[in-house]
Amino acid sequence: MSQRFFANAVTELFGTRLPIVAGGLMWLADAEYVAAASRAGIIGFITAASFPEPQALRAEIRRCRELCAGGPFGVNVSMLPKLVPGEKTREVFELIVDEGVKFVETSGRNPEEFIPLLKSAGIKVLHKVPSVRYAVKAASVGVDAVAIVGAECGGHPGLDMVGSFVNAAWAESQLDIPYLIGGGIGRGSQLAAALAMGASGVVVGTRFVVAEEIWAHDDYKRRLVEAGPTDTDLCMESVRNTVRTLRNETSAAVKDFEARNDNVTIQDLMPMVSGKIGREAYITGDWRKGLLAAGQSLAFTDRIEPLADIVHRFESDMMHAMKRVAIS
Ligand SMILES: Cc1cc2nc3c(=O)[nH]c(=O)nc-3n(C[C@H](O)[C@H](O)[C@H](O)COP(=O)(O)O)c2cc1C
Repeated sequence: MSQRFFANAVTELFGTRLPIVAGGLMWLADAEYVAAASRAGIIGFITAASFPEPQALRAEIRRCRELCAGGPFGVNVSMLPKLVPGEKTREVFELIVDEGVKFVETSGRNPEEFIPLLKSAGIKVLHKVPSVRYAVKAASVGVDAVAIVGAECGGHPGLDMVGSFVNAAWAESQLDIPYLIGGGIGRGSQLAAALAMGASGVVVGTRFVVAEEIWAHDDYKRRLVEAGPTDTDLCMESVRNTVRTLRNETSAAVKDFEARNDNVTIQDLMPMVSGKIGREAYITGDWRKGLLAAGQSLAFTDRIEPLADIVHRFESDMMHAMKRVAIS
């Protein structure tokens, strides 16, 4: 394992070797994956929404702490506009505080109402947003860092659809807190470029889903390996909840339904887009069913291998990129 050579705002914030964050992954980011991230010198986040029962989330956090053996880890809390009744966000944060978790990645909406609770417990907050304007807002409510994900990303790119390259350079003049860039990041050269533009790190989703430590079926991962950057669809634009997914039967059906109908509601789409169908696809490997978040960095998902190896390649590619532009 190489020495930490990066002392910047993100490695300082999380105590990691590299300024790379493995973002929350619904159903997939569990203790094994997050601990693998920690051992690889980056930080990952257990996705709270994957563990709807409080005792299951508590058990997962404890398992992760044990597996991390002192290494950093956090919990992702996605606060997306309510799709199902019964708001449990405050209870989730209280559990996180109670368990002594040190880092959270929030997303989905403004975290302002929860900041006092988290700050009083000494928790560092990385808030993830789909555009620079929301990052500015998040900075004003006291988060420690923001991650801005661009239009290329797997999952929710928001409504503005600005690309990561623009976000990376633009944010530098808009923010006075550390920021990370996400969306389409799968090579170390992109990390080097983000750092050069003023970011302090990157957040990665799609590229890491082919890691061995992700529990999903190999047939699904093999599809991600075969797929390229044009094998995604943007779905659910009609209900202002856009999601970028692996192109499959379900994404085609959703897009078709949206094109043929006016005034589409989330309830209309639910039979097709329910997260339970996606979870089933991860279990069986039948990637044709369900909306399976995936972004344009399918360009870089070239084999199934341990997360540490993916991170290692990321790191050497970053070093190579930096040498490429070094002025002697
Ligand atoms: C399969 C998958 C599931 C995701 N689930 C969540 C989630 O539950 N909460 C969240 O905040 N972000 C989620 N994301 C977004 C990632 O954390 C990250 O922000 C995004 O993937 C970065 O873009 P990239 O996919 O281009 O690397 C998910 C992404 C993927 C690919």
